[in-house]
Amino acid sequence: MDQSDVAGDLAEILLTEEQIGSRLDEMAAQIDADYAGKDLLVVGVLKGAVMVMADLSRRLHHPIEMDWMAVSSYGSGTKSSGVVRILKDLDTDLSGRNVLIAEDIIDSGLTLSWLVQNLRSRGPASVEVATMLRKPDAAKVEVDVRYVGFDIPNEFVVGYGLDHAEKYRNLPFIGTLAPHVYS
Ligand code: IMP
Ligand code: MG
Repeated sequence: MDQSDVAGDLAEILLTEEQIGSRLDEMAAQIDADYAGKDLLVVGVLKGAVMVMADLSRRLHHPIEMDWMAVSSYGSGTKSSGVVRILKDLDTDLSGRNVLIAEDIIDSGLTLSWLVQNLRSRGPASVEVATMLRKPDAAKVEVDVRYVGFDIPNEFVVGYGLDHAEKYRNLPFIGTLAPHVYS
């Protein structure tokens, strides 16, 4: 899928496929270095983190295990409340494991801060976070994010796993939606 397939729906391309790719190269190199000689379980948060998980994991030289979680955040409209329900839990026992959560975007940070606490309560050796995108609001919530792809302005973005009403996830780049798509 490319820009021509969603003609008129996008206001602007924020991050190209190339920009995302080279940032992922850097993040993967850092993760390889940080986890050298250690076991690593990467946990992807469905559905948005599918692209990050696929592209980041393939750049790692480090052998990893992968697992997936699906959570739903109760909220009004596009704002999350921090009250989270597990839709799909991990298959893996986290005792003694080094866990790296792979996320698409941190907005308020409420979902992630709940998730980090939840995984920490399962007896892992460590829990860290890698996210492709982070919005400025995230700074207001106490979440320690070790790896951040890009800090972006407070705008609604789609593509590279991120959706609006379940659409645009398969765009290879990240863009902002044209206002008429909301209404
Ligand atoms: P929060 O950090 O708890 O506010 O919620 C983060 C979740 O909200 C992400 O995992 C996305 O599913 C969704 N989200 C937040 N901002 C955006 C956006 O700009 N585009 C698409 N989804 C978003
Ligand atoms: Mg997400």
